[in-house]
Amino acid sequence: MRGSQRSNSFSLISLLVLGVLAVTSASCSAQAPSSLSPASPNAAAISNLFYIIFGIAVAVFVIVESLLLYSVIRFQRKSDDEMPKQVHGNVKLEIAWTLAPALVLAVVFGITFQTINSLAEFPKDSLKIKVTGHQWWWQVEYPDLGIVTANEIHLPLDQAASFTVESKDVIHSFWVPELGGKIDMIPGKKNQTWFRPFKLGTFHGQCAEFCGMAHANMRFTVIVERADQFNAWVGKQQVAAAAPQTDLAKRGQQEFLQGACVACHTVSGTNAKGTIGPDLTHIASRQTFAGSTMEMNTDNLRAWLQDPQTIKPGNLMPNLKLSADQINALIAYLEALK
Ligand code: CUA
Repeated sequence: MRGSQRSNSFSLISLLVLGVLAVTSASCSAQAPSSLSPASPNAAAISNLFYIIFGIAVAVFVIVESLLLYSVIRFQRKSDDEMPKQVHGNVKLEIAWTLAPALVLAVVFGITFQTINSLAEFPKDSLKIKVTGHQWWWQVEYPDLGIVTANEIHLPLDQAASFTVESKDVIHSFWVPELGGKIDMIPGKKNQTWFRPFKLGTFHGQCAEFCGMAHANMRFTVIVERADQFNAWVGKQQVAAAAPQTDLAKRGQQEFLQGACVACHTVSGTNAKGTIGPDLTHIASRQTFAGSTMEMNTDNLRAWLQDPQTIKPGNLMPNLKLSADQINALIAYLEALK
């Protein structure tokens, strides 16, 4: 009877463990950015640290569980009237199980401290970028290049980029798992981090500090490209906004400049100078919009202008109740802002 109870609770625990493992591993889909596939020495240092500490944790688990299982089996009561040997205390054992964890923790502290230290040293020649967190999007500035953009950071391959981050409203956290560790963005305080990407490609960033309703939709994109591609991008971003060419786009510009859009958005070279929402000077050159949650295309722009709140609930852009005509004109204008 007792035996079957024991095996029942054992299989219940196994099921629970399997369930937790299934749920946690399901959340790591192939597309999800992972700090375990590093694309910079900074992220590599963090992922190495993870593997070392994970290895130590596995060793501790195996040793402790083996001792536990051994004791459970070895010292099991053989019959109902058997009395176990009565003992009190064991100095050697007690010293051992106090010292061993202290030693393990000292090692973990040492290697963690060494990794933090190695990442705290900022490189001398780095591309300077200022990122400001807003509910729920990212303003990106290259102060030395005179560029302001949003939700998209272009970086040249193999060059160090240093980031000064802060926030306009509440605390956010700047995180690109494949490129570096998290850094808090705090209103009124400038924090700094840096990384040097060694892989070409598009990497996903995510706000890592709960900051309100659209926290999960506060994403951004980092595009690491060859130096010539990066320079071409810089050249395009440095010129003022393109003037609309078609009649529809011209009408769109009028809608934009005379409507509510200018209260929140900037388009360089026009009288749109709002700073509540993202700078739209070169919006059509971006791959995504709405905090990097929407791919940049006509259908998505239309859906967004029709009702931004169903697409990204809680965001600060109200439904302007635009007519289909106004939306078509605005899209033509926005798509001309290359
Ligand atoms: Cu910003 Cu979470």
